[in-house]
Amino acid sequence: MNQARIAVPNPDELDAAAQLLLAGHAIGMPTETVYGLAADATQPRAVQRVYAHKRRPAENPLIVHVAEGMFQGHESSSAALAGRGIVSIGDEQLASRVDALIDRFWPGPLTLVLPRGTRLGPELSAGRATVAVRAPAHPVAAALIARADRPLVAPSANRSGHISPTTAEAVVEELGDCIPLVLDGGPCTLGLESTVIEVQASSWRLLRPGMVGPAELSKQLGPQDETKNTNASGDGLVSPGLLSAHYAPRTPLVLLEHRIPLARELVFGAVLPADGSVGLLLPQPVAPEELSAIEDVLRSHRCSLRCVRHLSKTGSAKDAAARLFACLRELDALSADVLLAVLWPVEEGVGVAINDRIRRAAYATLGRS
Ligand code: TXA
Ligand code: MG
Repeated sequence: MNQARIAVPNPDELDAAAQLLLAGHAIGMPTETVYGLAADATQPRAVQRVYAHKRRPAENPLIVHVAEGMFQGHESSSAALAGRGIVSIGDEQLASRVDALIDRFWPGPLTLVLPRGTRLGPELSAGRATVAVRAPAHPVAAALIARADRPLVAPSANRSGHISPTTAEAVVEELGDCIPLVLDGGPCTLGLESTVIEVQASSWRLLRPGMVGPAELSKQLGPQDETKNTNASGDGLVSPGLLSAHYAPRTPLVLLEHRIPLARELVFGAVLPADGSVGLLLPQPVAPEELSAIEDVLRSHRCSLRCVRHLSKTGSAKDAAARLFACLRELDALSADVLLAVLWPVEEGVGVAINDRIRRAAYATLGRS
């Protein structure tokens, strides 16, 4: 089986990568959030290839990535994007909201769902009249988009439903057998995907929690439109990527509530596989006594604790976000019988996005049984 080559993103490799994109191939691209599977958004066959490599359901639309040169240099950012046929914004009020958001958050981890422009085909949006757009803040992504001089689709570079990759090696694990190249931009600094919002002239709503929190967005856009359900509407799913089962490790993952000491919860919870092995994902280190109490309970079930991963040693939600997917991958690689995970304790800001991902990983397990 061919394995994708991992390349240091020097100018020659960036040129070679841009040539592959223009020839219709899909390659691994680092961004500040997670690695993307990048392809030329203006070539329907390249877009179809991305769906095929990811085994992504045809009804789940892709995000289009742009570089600064594509939204700057006009009288306004929205006019620049419209001029390139990426979005289509007739309404002045919507244009000025989009300009303000781009001014504040781009390049960065905020994806805007807007009316789709004429240069982009319906296949990348799963037939929708909208398109999701963002400008990644990673210098390698920005350089690659600028060199190809095309908007690039780039869904997370994992097989559909799996854990998103935050290193070049993780991209090879996921897709190494079907893509030629991964540009190595190092571990992703943010580690969770962008926030996705749908913006209209006088309303907005959150479609996927991410690194930009809703409180920050409400400051700029006013309160969210709560009348619309974020998961479903009359015309089907608003954002299919919000399906409950996602980010799934191969090993079953079970949530612990940690309202009582973990050792007691384990006694009552009956989630332990007899004669089996366990991987544990904790937000922060627990006291040594608590850990040995956990080990005692496990031993009484003839069960072994194979590995403990902590999201953050210091309680920083940003560190936790950056480490979450790598920790899940490491725990999954143990081939333990079950992974036990405790949610991030503060469910606000980035904590909302962290717990969203952990819950979906657990939900995927439920769906399997
Ligand atoms: O941080 C990110 O956004 C990463 C990096 C690589 O940029 N990309 C990413 O792409 O996470 P993906 O395809 O894994 O997630 C895209 C999300 C999905 O939940 C999808 O359903 C939603 O955005 N989406 C895309 N286009 C949409 C549209 N037109 N309307 C509603 N939701 C859309
Ligand atoms: Mg994804």
